[in-house]
Amino acid sequence: MNELEDIVCAPDDRLKTECAPIDEITDDVRALADRMLRDMYAADGCGLAAPQVGELVQLVVIDVDWTEGKKNPYVLINPQIVVADGQERESGEGCLSFPGIQVQVRRPSHVIVRAKNLDGDLMQYEAQDNLMAICLQHEIDHLHGVTMVDHLRPGERMRTMREYQDALAHGARPGDVEVED
Ligand code: NI
Repeated sequence: MNELEDIVCAPDDRLKTECAPIDEITDDVRALADRMLRDMYAADGCGLAAPQVGELVQLVVIDVDWTEGKKNPYVLINPQIVVADGQERESGEGCLSFPGIQVQVRRPSHVIVRAKNLDGDLMQYEAQDNLMAICLQHEIDHLHGVTMVDHLRPGERMRTMREYQDALAHGARPGDVEVED
């Protein structure tokens, strides 16, 4: 399947669903992680969550270094935010499930996340004031049916969704941040 066509775009109920924890790291889980990394790199994204490829399980892939041209992928299984604090900061976010738009989202600037990796080891990730801190929160939100537009105030969300429909009508595809008129 074409990688970009594999990505679920809003609106879709699968993006609004609480995802199930993964009990056992099977070949299917490893294959899903591979598929998600392939899709994420094909779309030039820095993160992708399982529901974005239609799989309602708690798996996230992240690579915040990819934009600098080198691959450094993280696979997070059943990730949990154990600390989210620090001064809140607003930054521009995009999402492969919302092609063609970017929104300003406020989030805590410091997070600590615990997750299993593909070997079943419990890992801890700490990030502050960087893309990783944003990406961890954005992707883990997806596992709980929350997308970036859910962080907007109602009026702003309506305006954003109109902008998004317009971007889709102009042919935006996953990975596009803005589409030329
Ligand atoms: Ni997203």
